Amino acid sequence: MIKKGIILAGGTGSRMSPLTKAVNKQLLPIHDKPLIFYPLSVLMLSGIRDVLIIVNKGQLNQFKKILPNGNNLGIKISYAEQKNPKGLPDAFLVGKKFIGNENVALILGDNFFYGQSLTKILKKCVKLKVGATVILHPVKNPSLYGVANIDKKNKITKIIEKPKKKISNLAVTGFYFFDNKVINYSKNLKPSKRKEIEIVDLLNKYREKKKLSAKFISRGGAWLDTGSIEDFYNTSAFVAALENRQGLKIACLEEIALSNKWINKTNILNAIKFYGKCSYSQYLSTLIKKS
Ligand code: G1P
Repeated sequence: MIKKGIILAGGTGSRMSPLTKAVNKQLLPIHDKPLIFYPLSVLMLSGIRDVLIIVNKGQLNQFKKILPNGNNLGIKISYAEQKNPKGLPDAFLVGKKFIGNENVALILGDNFFYGQSLTKILKKCVKLKVGATVILHPVKNPSLYGVANIDKKNKITKIIEKPKKKISNLAVTGFYFFDNKVINYSKNLKPSKRKEIEIVDLLNKYREKKKLSAKFISRGGAWLDTGSIEDFYNTSAFVAALENRQGLKIACLEEIALSNKWINKTNILNAIKFYGKCSYSQYLSTLIKKS
């Protein structure tokens, strides 16, 4: 069972400068909440309550203002700083102490997941004991992502980072599940041409040992990423369309914590005080009436 999760919220967000010059990308809005709420909500939906957020050096205080320690969500949030981005597997080296002897999930701070069967899939993923699991999702332009090829039995036969020649339309999403070997494997990765250690090299280590499995978010589910300002607007529009139509919020952290029975009404009242007069607080007050 995976009980620990890392959110990698480092990176310079250079593609979104000047917006990201003073503020970390993960704190910019997706509709009515900071981007970081979405990956955190997904970890919480998986049942993970012990979270490490890796941020850029010097940006810790920004994050702590909005997500201090997790107490009010019934979870534990700790932080680590990354001096400079060295590639995704560096999360397991920065987070070595946090991981200890346990298995761990990694979610990228700019990944957005939505779908009816999402929680069910994630609950299966966190059951991992040995090996690694990735979540695959079909995309129109796979050359922007890590891409996996699968055989008839849904076994991964190949994983390539941003392939120039199409191998499949199945992107490897930024939510990964690993056993404890991930620390050692990451330690031994050699930097690529762009001088970073690469997540696909790590995944290939597991694949070569026949320890890599795949889960799928197919039609009916959504995986969006927020790499560029266009993606930010598109993802915001998606959230706004659903929230305005249904009157239900996506990634309301307190709502998830309450339905998981990690917090009670008093925590919701505290959250309302903390956020102040706003539509998010108004929504929180409807949760008290419902429960
Ligand atoms: C990274 C990974 C890629 C993965 C993607 C998911 O790419 O390297 O394999 O498919 O995240 O968001 P990046 O966004 O850093 O280009």
